Amino acid sequence: MIPRITIAEAGQHVGETVQIAGWLYNLRRSGKIAFPIVRDGYGLMQCVAVKSALPEELFETIKNLTQESSLIVTGKIRAEQRAHGGFEMDVEALEVIQRVPESDPYPITPKDHGVDFLMDHRHLWLRSQRQHAIIRVRHEIIKAVRDYFDSHGFTLVDTPIFTPAACEGTTTLFEVDYFEDEKAFLTQSGQLYNEATAMAFGKTYCFGPTFRAEKSKTRRHLTEFWMVEPEMTYATLDDVKRVAEELIVFIVGRVLENRREELKRLERDVSKLEAIQAPFGRMSYDDAVKILQTKGSEIQWGGDFGGTDETLLTEDQTRPVMVDRFPASFKAFYFQPDPERSDLVLGVDVLAPEGYGEIIGGGQRIHDPELLLKRIHEHNLPVEAFQWYIDLRKYGTVPHGGFGMGIERCVAWMCGLEHIRETIAFPRMLYRLRP
Ligand code: 4AD
Ligand code: MG
Repeated sequence: MIPRITIAEAGQHVGETVQIAGWLYNLRRSGKIAFPIVRDGYGLMQCVAVKSALPEELFETIKNLTQESSLIVTGKIRAEQRAHGGFEMDVEALEVIQRVPESDPYPITPKDHGVDFLMDHRHLWLRSQRQHAIIRVRHEIIKAVRDYFDSHGFTLVDTPIFTPAACEGTTTLFEVDYFEDEKAFLTQSGQLYNEATAMAFGKTYCFGPTFRAEKSKTRRHLTEFWMVEPEMTYATLDDVKRVAEELIVFIVGRVLENRREELKRLERDVSKLEAIQAPFGRMSYDDAVKILQTKGSEIQWGGDFGGTDETLLTEDQTRPVMVDRFPASFKAFYFQPDPERSDLVLGVDVLAPEGYGEIIGGGQRIHDPELLLKRIHEHNLPVEAFQWYIDLRKYGTVPHGGFGMGIERCVAWMCGLEHIRETIAFPRMLYRLRP
């Protein structure tokens, strides 16, 4: 039996005859020699097929292979510094599983395609080297997020996707029919449920898809995105900021440790990521507005930041910036007021450097039942729907807080991407529901 290996394992099999199973990525050839480059999902392997060393029919087959044909190659691994992963395979045998016909060739060729074409062929585009690198960095980020929380005393308690009420405001909800006579909404955030689970477990997190029906057509917005949301009891705004900072430093460290090759393929300037260390910059909303005004922003005190404002605040920063204490007027109902300024709330946004904008939003929650009820009324929310949430304040209430971090925004930043659409396998956006 010839061992089947992945291309990533080639280094452990130098001098041995092994099999790799993959797809034809590219082919160079001359009369006497052919160089099929095979990809298998783990790497690229340049194979060397020499006419004089192979049955004539097989050499002809190899010479005429088409892009993305599936195949199993048997051959001997040889170290070759000039080759892609540092190894080459001398072909001894090759089995074609399916040959892609010339009459209907693989649609994505090495030439430049427009982004709409590529998005329409997203199911195939994922095979390309750049997309492959991005998705691997994404996986690394998700793994690091889980490892961070799992090793810091957080219990994973996932929250529902069908919800009966809004969390971040009612205008941005996707409504669905829930059997005959009820409406449900796709969740915008697991936060309210996290507050219940945190009171049961101390520290919890949920990690899943969330949905926003805002009609934003920007390079930072998806309608479906993945968010990780930790929630901590006996915690204040400062605890929230500390955990946010530690988490980001930890994730960037992991990506640098394990995904160097992918970052290189993406031509990411890794020195920018190496600079991500604690402490991050900290500023109040008040100061942020003043800074923005000196930088020419139109923002007035009391207004929320736009995408451009977020970019302006971080353009000259090498580390993320944490902005806190926002006007209560544009924040959700659940924020704890600032004890020193009743017009402000104890919320925090973490803005990524290099103009990537907000990657984390969170803060301290109201723990006083009367105040919470007052806010629910002020925001015209249906009290009945929030009765269970008010209960959390009636039975052993404590100061608590947490945040949400959007995975795709992190991937875009860490990979240095122009647009969020490449950070998830099948992006859902205002004008994109397919494939
Ligand atoms: O600031 P947001 O709306 O906060 C919440 O949902 C809180 N309830 C979270 C909490 O405290 N548990 O969203 C949090 C993060 C943002 O900072 C951003 O990274 C990401 O989620 N995000 C989006 N990512 C992609 N597309 C969108 N449309 C996003 N909206 C928010
Ligand atoms: Mg936010």
